[in-house]
Amino acid sequence: MKIKSADFVMSNSSVAHCPSDPIPEYAFIGRSNVGKSSLINMLTQRKSLAKTSGRPGKTQLINHFKINKNWFLVDLPGYGYARVSKKDKKTFQKYITEYFLKRSQLLSAFVLIDIRHEPQPIDLNFMAWMGENQIPFSIIFTKADKLKPKAIDRQVQAYLKTMTDDLWEEAPQYFVTSSLKAFGRDEILSYIDGINIEFYKQQL
Ligand code: GTP
Ligand code: MG
Repeated sequence: MKIKSADFVMSNSSVAHCPSDPIPEYAFIGRSNVGKSSLINMLTQRKSLAKTSGRPGKTQLINHFKINKNWFLVDLPGYGYARVSKKDKKTFQKYITEYFLKRSQLLSAFVLIDIRHEPQPIDLNFMAWMGENQIPFSIIFTKADKLKPKAIDRQVQAYLKTMTDDLWEEAPQYFVTSSLKAFGRDEILSYIDGINIEFYKQQL
């Protein structure tokens, strides 16, 4: 899929105020600093469409970006950022959960996992919650440029094994990416394109 246009639409903290366009939507979620905003810039090939930072806790709102005038990419705040106050954390959590439970346009979420890290309870619990609530998601392993190919394979296989040993009958679909090297871009865009095509077919 070619990205012909990528436009920032709005930021807000309530699902009630998200854009009402009945078009396919995809959201990026994961721990603070995992690379959600960077990935949106990499996919759209726009350097600073989504705001990124070396400091965790940069994205604090629900941000809608309209792509090719017919689907949305959504950048969300990260979870698990220790330095956010308890009160703020609760507020974030409330609108992130509300977003996933109520946003009917959402066709698939992407849960981002830093490929260097061992499976963390916070991510596994979040995916279990997505499963319980029947919210479709796939995994995006980020920052693959930090590891050699063999280590990438090892980390991915170990991660998926943790999931199937634990709760899941099948490992979810996954992608390996590097925003720095634009690695994994075509795979994610063609996955989205496939879902969009099905969606628009059903509208006919
Ligand atoms: P929050 O908005 O705070 O939740 O973070 P985020 O998940 O949006 O992360 P962001 O995209 O802001 O990136 C965090 C840091 O990781 C930045 O310093 C990025 O440059 C770096 N980063 C993101 N993706 C990659 C990658 O693929 N490779 C490397 N080496 N660094 C990356
Ligand atoms: Mg961000």
